[in-house]
Parts: sequence; C-alpha cells; structure tokens
Amino acid sequence: MSLGDLPRIRLGTLPTPLRPAPRLSAELGVEVWLKRDDLTGLGLGGNKVRGLEFLLADAVRRGCDTLVTGGGPGSNWAMLAALAARTRGLDTVLVCYGDPVPPVGNMALAAVAGAEIRFTADPDRASVDRGVAAVADELRAAGRVPYPMGRGGATAVGALGYLTAARELAVQLADAGCVPAGTWLATGSCGTHAGLAAGVHWQRLGPVTGVTVSRPVAECVERVDRLSREVAALAGTPAPDGPPVVVGGHVGPGYGRRSAEGEAAAALVARTEGVFLDPVFAAKAMAGLVAAARAGAVAGPVVFLVTGGAPTLFTTV
Ligand SMILES: Cc1ncc(COP(=O)(O)O)c(C=O)c1O
Repeated sequence: MSLGDLPRIRLGTLPTPLRPAPRLSAELGVEVWLKRDDLTGLGLGGNKVRGLEFLLADAVRRGCDTLVTGGGPGSNWAMLAALAARTRGLDTVLVCYGDPVPPVGNMALAAVAGAEIRFTADPDRASVDRGVAAVADELRAAGRVPYPMGRGGATAVGALGYLTAARELAVQLADAGCVPAGTWLATGSCGTHAGLAAGVHWQRLGPVTGVTVSRPVAECVERVDRLSREVAALAGTPAPDGPPVVVGGHVGPGYGRRSAEGEAAAALVARTEGVFLDPVFAAKAMAGLVAAARAGAVAGPVVFLVTGGAPTLFTTV
C-alpha cells in the first residue's frame, strides 16, 4: 500500500503557516522560522490533529465505535481524540492517571465533547495503559467495538501525521527559498518526533532535534528510532538512518509543570513574534533552542514546530 492509499480523514485546516521569525532570530543570532501547528484547526488546534487524521480513519475502517485512550487530566491529546471521534459519530472513553480532579481545561473540553472520563486512582502515568486495555476489554464484553490507543497516539499509524507534515513543510520551504539546517520540537510520547524524523529523511530536509519534556533521553531515542522506522515502513518511504537527536535538561520541576526557563523562552517568543507557546511542551522546547543558540551550538535556519496546547496556557501551574 502506498502513502496515498492509507486511510485518512481530514480534520485539520492544512497546510498550517510557515513564517519567518525575524525579531526572535535577531535575539538569538540564529535564523528561526515558526511552523504554526497550533493552527491545525480542530478544537483549539495542535500537533495531535495530524496523527488523529490517520488513527480515526483506521478506527472507522475497522468498524470501531469507541475510541479508548488517555493521559494526564490536562492531556491535549485526549481532548482532541474525543473531539475527533465526534466528527464521525464515535464515542470516547478517556482514562486519566491519578484521582479524580475537577474538570478544567482539556478535561472540561473533553466532557463538553461527551467523552466518558475515568481515573485510575494511581499516580503512575503507565497506569493509563493498563486502564485503556481494561476499558477496551469491558467494551468488547458489552458487544462494543473499541479502538484502543496508547498515550499520545504514539504508534506508526499516528506518526503518519508528521511524516506527511514533512512533505507539506518541504513544499513551503522550497517556496520560501529556505534550506533549513534542522527542525526543533518538543518530544513527549515521541510520535510527532518519529513521524517528522522519517518525513524529513524522505524529503531530504535537515535533521530533527527533539527536546524531551518528560521521558529520559535514552528512552526517547529508543522510541523515536523504533517508531520512525515503523512509520517509514508503513508509508513505503526510506528508513531513517542514524540515531535520533534528543536534548535533555529542560524538563524543569517535572512533566506538566511550568519551568522558569520555559516561561522566559515563551515570553521571548510572545514579545518578539506575537505567538504563544504552551508551558508543558513548546515553551520547554524553545528553552532548549534558546540555550543552544546562546551557547553558539546551533546553526540556522532552524524551523521550530509550534505544537499548540492552548488550553494548558490557562491551567498549568
Ligand atoms: C502541545 C503539544 N506539543 C507537543 C507534544 C509532544 O508530542 P508527542 O507526544 O508526539 O511527542 C504534545 C503531546 O501531547 C502536545 O500536546
């Protein structure tokens, strides 16, 4: 099956803009371009919309009636999955780690979309994976047809979203006459990084640098490497070579919590370019890019992927 034959349901408003960031570039001494995937259009936008186009299509093709997934109570992914499901009349059950919390931000939006939200009563994030499997079993026993998806939608099918985004980016860069030295982004569950790594290899763009916001660097390298090979095989594109590049040291006080350097980086981008970066992902990735630029360790032009997460601007502490 070729890439064009893979089932896809259009959810996003694509292509998203690619814009030069001249005032940020002047501050950093490195030419930076912003790829505005905060503007993908479903709900309040964000990177997860791209992967959901392929995951939802796979669910529909398999005759599934319920998406089952989860994450933290503030998960952008979980909310967007619930919203995407509704565009094809599917239900959603979301499993959150920890104890029940009042629905604010993404959980409140998921509830508006009609998602059923459950909590694992276990603070371990991996408890979501066990919970998703248990809910899927429960639904099957009740005669339903669930489509279980791991945290972040980090599978080969989900990574197709960013493999195809690389093609979109390549066209935009060519039109702008820009030959990038590399692309930077936040790395969480690793599906976005993996898809983009496979895609830029296919499109012969510069390498991808991910700044981890949660997992240890070695775990990200292993996951991105595996997923990028899997998605390239699925799409029939060349297998990426070389180990993925993942930068650590920018998680701050913890996943899902604001960091001082992330806040400073987000303020810099808002004040120079009029663009908000979310505190959980893009702010910390930008902190990594700022640190590398100030250390003279990065050459431009650099594309920075603005990945969305608008609801967490108001709820993250
Ligand atoms: C706003 C935002 N940026 C970046 C990411 C990281 O993407 P991934 O989990 O595919 O590594 C996420 C993941 O949920 C996200 O919500």
